[in-house]
Amino acid sequence: VPVVVLISGTGSNLAALLEASRTGDSSFEIVGVIADREAAGLAHATSAGIPAEIVRLGDFPDREAWDGALAAAISRYAPQLVVLAGFMKLLGPAVLEAHPGRIINTHPALLPSFPGAHGVRDALAYGVKVTGASVIEVDAGVDTGRILAQAALEVLPEDDEASLHERIKVLERRMLVDVVADLTRPR
Ligand code: GRF
Repeated sequence: VPVVVLISGTGSNLAALLEASRTGDSSFEIVGVIADREAAGLAHATSAGIPAEIVRLGDFPDREAWDGALAAAISRYAPQLVVLAGFMKLLGPAVLEAHPGRIINTHPALLPSFPGAHGVRDALAYGVKVTGASVIEVDAGVDTGRILAQAALEVLPEDDEASLHERIKVLERRMLVDVVADLTRPR
């Protein structure tokens, strides 16, 4: 099953998906990677010989034009599933309507708590004792889609944002691979 992955950063979730897609009994194949900037994670795609491209907001007159270009870029791969793995932009109607119910996102907090771009920092600042990661269906809101999976972990007294986020990402990568495998498994 063809899958397109959208990234903005280091792409460790993408790397985990790539590794899982190469196992013998894998039910999915990553056919394209799209970033909104010069994301370091694009190297995981290029080194694997997978088409990778950047669709920059700044290259377009307005957000609607960017959303349309992003929708076209995704559609060129004809994916059955679109995975946002650290993609730090909100998707507009052109993308959401092109792939209804077929876009998922991973978020480093236990939604509905701490949505948005700083979930780890916000949870830590709040003083939670437990946090984690969530995989959701993407809708027009900010991390408001249906929850597909969650994993929890304890916040350690010595945790700062970076250390906590790294520990969350270990859970997150495993959970995202499981959800993508489940969603692409032949019915
Ligand atoms: C992940 O924790 C994701 O949930 C958040 O940004 C991080 C991306 O990490 N939105 P990576 O680029 O996959 O390493």
